[in-house]
Amino acid sequence: MKKAAAEAALEYVETGTVIGIGTGSTANHFIDALASIKHRIEGTVASSVASAERLEKHGIEVLDLNMVDEISVYIDGADEATKHLHLIKGGGGALTREKIVAAASRKFVCIADESKLVDILGEFPLPVEVIPMARSYVAREMVKLGGEPVLREGFTTDNGNIILDIHGLQIMEPTKLEARINNIAGVVTNGIFALRPADVLLLGGNEGVRTLT
Ligand code: 5RP
Repeated sequence: MKKAAAEAALEYVETGTVIGIGTGSTANHFIDALASIKHRIEGTVASSVASAERLEKHGIEVLDLNMVDEISVYIDGADEATKHLHLIKGGGGALTREKIVAAASRKFVCIADESKLVDILGEFPLPVEVIPMARSYVAREMVKLGGEPVLREGFTTDNGNIILDIHGLQIMEPTKLEARINNIAGVVTNGIFALRPADVLLLGGNEGVRTLT
């Protein structure tokens, strides 16, 4: 189902442009599919070291975001998605670079299997990337917001930071909570993608791929 959604996203690739590439198993299916049309694109911007390595193995050019004027489309998976195209991301820990590439892209196409579709975000623990010295402070602030923070043991992000996974949240107002958490000193970013939601959600299921806009 992930592979079907990833292959459906090829339709959103514009010839001669730079493509933003996400992180995770669904994004990996997309990278593999993109290899078949790599001659048609200008290059890619990757949201993680892991995705950059996979792209390079396929002989697909990976560009520095600072050298790129425009990204036509960003293709990435999600841990949870609503019909409003609000997402939780960061299960793979790449949320900050994912949010940067999504923000810098004209269009965001999210690819997922249908199990990721939920009514209310929050059953999947919300990843928050934190500067290491702020770990305890941010954890206490998250408790005040009603969450139960758990340190992702043995994990360091590509940016050298830690991840707190916040359990027990029912996210009724995703845009407000996204901004509120991002305002806590020491938070780099959190995994709610609502201020910049997806523009298209491709959901792979038993009966094919559904498109939500
Ligand atoms: C990585 C992510 C991924 O998009 C998310 O975890 C979904 O992963 P998968 O495609 O493996 O189900 O946000 O940081």
